[in-house]
Amino acid sequence: MYRNGIISVSDSVFWVGAQDRTTDKFEGMWSIPHGVAYNSYLLTGEKNILIDTVKEHFIGGFLDRIAEALAGRSLDYVVVNHMEPDHSGSMRVLRDVYPNAKLIGNAKTAEMMKNFFGISEGIVTVSDGEAVELGGRKFVFVFTPMVHWPESMVAYDATDRILFSSDILGGFGATDGGIFDDEADMNMAVGEMARYYVNIVGRFAAPALKALAKVRTLDIGIICPAHGHVWRTEPGRVIDIYEKLSRQETDEGVVVVYGTMYGNTAAAAERIASDLVKNRVPSVHMHDIARSDISQVTTDIWRHSGLILASCTYNMELFPPMARLLRHLENKNMKGRYAGLCGTFSWAEASLRELSAFVERSKGGWTHVEPKILIKSGLKASDCALCETLSSNMARAIKG
Ligand code: FEO
Repeated sequence: MYRNGIISVSDSVFWVGAQDRTTDKFEGMWSIPHGVAYNSYLLTGEKNILIDTVKEHFIGGFLDRIAEALAGRSLDYVVVNHMEPDHSGSMRVLRDVYPNAKLIGNAKTAEMMKNFFGISEGIVTVSDGEAVELGGRKFVFVFTPMVHWPESMVAYDATDRILFSSDILGGFGATDGGIFDDEADMNMAVGEMARYYVNIVGRFAAPALKALAKVRTLDIGIICPAHGHVWRTEPGRVIDIYEKLSRQETDEGVVVVYGTMYGNTAAAAERIASDLVKNRVPSVHMHDIARSDISQVTTDIWRHSGLILASCTYNMELFPPMARLLRHLENKNMKGRYAGLCGTFSWAEASLRELSAFVERSKGGWTHVEPKILIKSGLKASDCALCETLSSNMARAIKG
């Protein structure tokens, strides 16, 4: 059965992946309003080699595309760069359809293959940096542990100078018709790449930097990631973007995130944001944490040097949507940024205390900008004066 066609990356390399526009939450958590691509590639020649698979839900069209690209030839190898099921999910069915295809991974891959799918036969394990010739193609397998799982690796086809980079250098967003960088809406592609990086890879920024340093040593003509676009025009650009994100290099700007029930905390946040603009902060972004998408809030915070957290108290604790954000930010282990704090309450203060504890737990990851603002119920003239002071101090801090 013919469904969506294969797409040629080169004369002998074909995209056979899947475009997912139906999943609401990636990893069961992260909004993907623009979908996501699960990229898989088939390399044809003396030996036919598949790079990764797709999420199990998309197995039908995936098998059709493989069959179309193979045109009656055998499938000899499947390179398993990563075992997270968005890439390995079709493995069991693939093994049933192509029982003679050998799987290529590392020792950790083999263990996960057994645990996920009960597959323990026909697996070839490689070591970090190992060069392997497959049907006239010379591959080098480079381990990239924790980007995004311990077994993660990338496959470099030295014959065609193509890097199959797995999660690293990928992004959210199904690709719209064309899969290549020169066919993409680049603003959308880079924005979705940042949102993917921060929420999926960001916790592992240090391993990502090590992986990127390894990748930099390769002579790369085309980058074929497991998500997002194929970078054939500017492969270096996507590495630059990933390096900036991994170094936690920020742009000058402030994200104001507030949690409010009846508008009093929102009023303080609006006041602070307005004062930041008056202080010529070049980029100010506001989020109502009960309504904004947490993956976008976190991405904006990652990309900017300043953060204002303003929250009400709820049932003698921090407002729950704000508490959820703080847990997420702590998991990301952000460094080198400035935070200003504003807590509100009416009869049992907790918000400012918990916001302060968040900054203290970061052990210098967040530098606190004075003054801490504590507002009882409504915003008063004295509170507005403190908001002005906090904004001017924050503007000064982020401008160095
Ligand atoms: Fe796209 Fe970590 O899987």
